[in-house]
Amino acid sequence: AAENGLDGWLRYASLSCTGQCRSKLPANIVVLNATETSPIYIAGSELQIGLKSIYGSHAEITWGKCKASSSVVVGTVEQYRETCGSLSGIPELEEDGFWLSTQGDKVRILGSNDRGALYGAFEYLSMLAQGNFSAVAYASNPSAPIRWVNQWDNMDGSIERGYGGPSIFFKDGAIVEDLSRVKQYGRLLASVRINAVVINNVNANATLLTPENLKGLGRIADVFRPYGVKIGISLNFASPETLGGLDTYDPLDTSVIDWWSSVTEQLYQNVPDMAGYLVKADSEGEPGPAVYNRTLSQGANLFAKALQPYGGIVMFRAFVYNQLNESNWDADRAKAAVDFFKPLDGEFEENVVVQIKFGPIDFQVREPTSPLFANLFNTSSAIELEVTQEYLGQQSHLVYLPPLWKTVLDFDLRVDHKPSLVRDIITGKRFNRKLGGSAAVVNVGTNTTWLGSHLSMSNLYGYGRLAWNAADDPEAILQDWIRLTFGLDPTVLKTLTQLSMESWPAYENYSGNLGIQTLTDILYTHYGPNPQSQDGNGWGQWTRADSTSIGMDRTVSNGTGYSGQYPDEIAAIYEDISTTPDDLLLWFHHVNYTHRLHSGKTIIQHFYDAHYSGAESAQSFLTQWESLKGKVDEERYNHIRHRLDYQTGHSIVWRDAINNFYHNLSGIPDTSKRVGHH
Ligand code: GCU
Repeated sequence: AAENGLDGWLRYASLSCTGQCRSKLPANIVVLNATETSPIYIAGSELQIGLKSIYGSHAEITWGKCKASSSVVVGTVEQYRETCGSLSGIPELEEDGFWLSTQGDKVRILGSNDRGALYGAFEYLSMLAQGNFSAVAYASNPSAPIRWVNQWDNMDGSIERGYGGPSIFFKDGAIVEDLSRVKQYGRLLASVRINAVVINNVNANATLLTPENLKGLGRIADVFRPYGVKIGISLNFASPETLGGLDTYDPLDTSVIDWWSSVTEQLYQNVPDMAGYLVKADSEGEPGPAVYNRTLSQGANLFAKALQPYGGIVMFRAFVYNQLNESNWDADRAKAAVDFFKPLDGEFEENVVVQIKFGPIDFQVREPTSPLFANLFNTSSAIELEVTQEYLGQQSHLVYLPPLWKTVLDFDLRVDHKPSLVRDIITGKRFNRKLGGSAAVVNVGTNTTWLGSHLSMSNLYGYGRLAWNAADDPEAILQDWIRLTFGLDPTVLKTLTQLSMESWPAYENYSGNLGIQTLTDILYTHYGPNPQSQDGNGWGQWTRADSTSIGMDRTVSNGTGYSGQYPDEIAAIYEDISTTPDDLLLWFHHVNYTHRLHSGKTIIQHFYDAHYSGAESAQSFLTQWESLKGKVDEERYNHIRHRLDYQTGHSIVWRDAINNFYHNLSGIPDTSKRVGHH
C-alpha cells in the first residue's frame, strides 16, 4: 500500500516477522465466493495484499475449494457448511455480523452474509497490522442495522461544511467520470463497517433526479457495492414542482404521490439496492409539508410509501425549528424538536427513522442529550453526529470527538424510571424497534488526506467503530487507529493518545465552556471566536449575556420550560441549579457572573482560567508532536506540525477574544491579573 493519506488507516505498513510469526501466517487464502462483485472477493484480495504488504508473505488464493492445511478461509457460514463441512460452536449471527477464529495459521472468517465476511477480513487484517497473533474465536455483531454516513455534497462539486476539498461524487451538475476515489472511500468505510452513504447535501437539489444523473447514481452504486456499501440520496421536497413541472408538491396530492412513485421506480431501476432517502423538510428555508398545512409525518410517509415496494428507508431529520424573538424570555429553539415530533409519535410508517442530532441545538462543543430520544416510543430513531468539525475548528484544530459523542451515547434518560441509555434507544433495544442506528456527516473531499487533516481521520474511524458498538471505549478505539495509521512505536502511541484525549477538553476550554455553546461565529463561517454573534438575532442559540449575568434559563419554574422535556428524574436534576453539572450550568440557568460553581470558582473566574488552561494545552500539543520528529514520515510529520502550530496560535486568539469580551462586558477583574493586563 502507498505511503499516502488515501489508505487512511488501511496502510498495511511493513512489520518485521520474527520468532513464531512466520508459522502463524496462512500460506493459502480460501475464498468461498468467486463472484467478482461480491464483498467476499474483495476480502480475498485485501487479505492477499495485506499479508504481502505487512509481512512480505505471499498467500495463494483458492476459489471455492476448502483446504485443510495452513489457510485463511473467508466466506459466509452457509458457504462454509456447503464447501468445507460441518461447523460447531458458532452462535447465531446477526445481519452483517461475523465469526473470527484464529488458531496459528488456520484462520476462519465467516460472515452471516457477504458483507459480514468482508468485515471479518478487515478485523483479522487489523490484528495482523497491529502485530497481534493471539488465538481468538468470537462472534462480532452490529448493535444496529443503520450505520450510515452523510455527505453534504452539492451538484456543482462544492461541499457544505466540508474542509477536505471538492466532492468526489459531483462536478458541474453531474456525476464525475472518474470514480476511483469513490472506490477508495468504499474501502475505508467497509473497514469500519459502515453500510450506506447518502451522497448529496441535505439541502438538496432536485437536478440530482434527471435521467442523466440517475445513470450516474447507478455507476456510483456499482463502485460501492463490492464493499457492501449502499447509497442513499437526499431529496428536495419541492421537486415535483421544480423538476417535475407540477403546480404543487402537496404530499397528499395524487399527482405528487404518483410523481414520487415514478421517480422512486426509476431510481431502483438504476440502483436496485438503494438504501433509501434522507429528507430535510420545513427547516432553514427548505420546502416541506407545512407549506400545505400538512404534518411532518404526512411528509415523511409520502416517501416511506414510495420506498416500501423496494425495502428502502426514509431517514427523516428532526432538525426542524423556527426563527425566534429574543425578547421573549421563554422562546427556546432547544425545545423545537420535541414540540414538533412528540405529537407525531406513532404516526410514521414503519420504514421511517427520525434522525436526531445529538443535542437540541446544532453540534456544539457540549450540549445536553437531545430530549427527543426520550419522547419517541413508537417511532424508530437514529443519532446524527458530525465527523466534519463544523463548529469545532474545521480540521485546523485537533479535536478527537468520540469522547464528546459518548457523553450522549452513554447518557441514561431514565424513561419510566428504567435504565434508558441513548445507545440502547437508537439501536431499538429499549423501545423494541426493528430499525435504528446512527448517521454521521462526514464530508470527505478530493484532498489526499480526505478530511483536510491526517489527524481528523481518527474521528471517521471512531465513528464507524461506535456505530457498530456504541459501548466501545474511545481511548481503545483511538489506540487501534494510531497503531494502524502510525505504526507500533510506543512513544508515538503514548504521545498521540495523550494529545487526542486532551483535545476536546482543550477546545471546550478555549472556546465556550459551562454549557454556553461554542461561542464561534454562528452567522456565517462557524469559525473563530465571535461571542457577540450569539445574541441579537433570530437563530435562538442565545447566551443572554449582559453586564451582570449570563446563560439561558431553561427551567420550568422560571424559564423556557425545556428541562421539563426530559423524563422526571433527569428533569429534576436540570431544574435545580444545585444538581445541574457545572459543564451544563449555563445551558440551563441564567446566573450572575459571580455565581459559584460546585468547583468553588465564580463563573467569570472559571471562564478566565479555562481559557488560559485550554490554550496552554493546545500549545503543549505542538511540543509533544515535535518530540516525535523522526518517528513519523516527513510528509505527515510536517503536515501535522503545521496544523498544530496554527492551532497553538489560534487558541491564543480564542482565549483573548473570549476573555476580553466578558471582561469588558462584566468589568470583573481576573484574580490572577492576566485578562486586561497586557
Ligand atoms: C447546520 C449547518 C448547515 C446545515 C444544517 C443542517 O446548521 O451549518 O450548513 O445545513 O446544520 O444540519 O441541516
